[in-house]
Amino acid sequence: MDHTDVSHQRWQDHWLFFSHFRKSPRTVGAIAPSSRRLAHAMVDGLDVTPASRVVELGPGTGAITVEIAAKLPPSARCLAIDIDPVFTARVAARWPGIEAICDRAEHLVEIAHSRGLLPIDHIVSGLPFASLPSASARAIVEAIVTSLRPGGTFTTFQYVHAFALPPAVAVRRTLAARMGSSPTRQLVVGNLPPALVVRWTKAVPAAAPDSVRPQRDLA
Ligand SMILES: C[S@@+](CC[C@H](N)C(=O)[O-])C[C@H]1O[C@@H](n2cnc3c(N)ncnc32)[C@H](O)[C@@H]1O
Repeated sequence: MDHTDVSHQRWQDHWLFFSHFRKSPRTVGAIAPSSRRLAHAMVDGLDVTPASRVVELGPGTGAITVEIAAKLPPSARCLAIDIDPVFTARVAARWPGIEAICDRAEHLVEIAHSRGLLPIDHIVSGLPFASLPSASARAIVEAIVTSLRPGGTFTTFQYVHAFALPPAVAVRRTLAARMGSSPTRQLVVGNLPPALVVRWTKAVPAAAPDSVRPQRDLA
């Protein structure tokens, strides 16, 4: 694709995104797709191997998907789930190797299980947690924690202006408690509005002491 085609596609994405925001502001949660800088920061440092299983929640028009696709070895698998059928059709057409599904992120465990994708190594999310109904946000957090392997990561972003607001704080607290770890944070100024990329690594359970290990090998 030459430079003119790329700019044209970017304008199309912005227009599509904005028109869906007007129809469904709480679900889309932003007036424009994430910038390239924010998208790059979302996947930066993820250890994606040929055997990795990656999930993107809320890919929208694919602003972050493009960075995931660039990192994905051919044999790695990636599932993208969005509630909006127009967005998932677009992702499926642009990245045929990515399994784009129109469904709710709340159903992540069932969807990943039915496709033989559990446990997942990395989940990257553009979901607007702060504007989702709190029951939905809680269900999605549970699905994320359940489907990740110990040592797997969950990465999301929160806009700077909303970072200290109760819904954003509540989601971070719940995630920290359920993932068993504190997140890393990275400020991305080059996005409208500026955002913080927040990443948790799911705690690896401590090995049981010898005294409580099954004794069957000792006979
Ligand atoms: C803020 S947009 C992010 C789009 C894209 N990742 C980006 O960064 O430009 C949020 C996306 O989450 C999707 N979404 C919202 N609630 C959802 C849910 N419960 N399950 C799946 N997708 C959802 C919306 O349709 C939208 O595409």
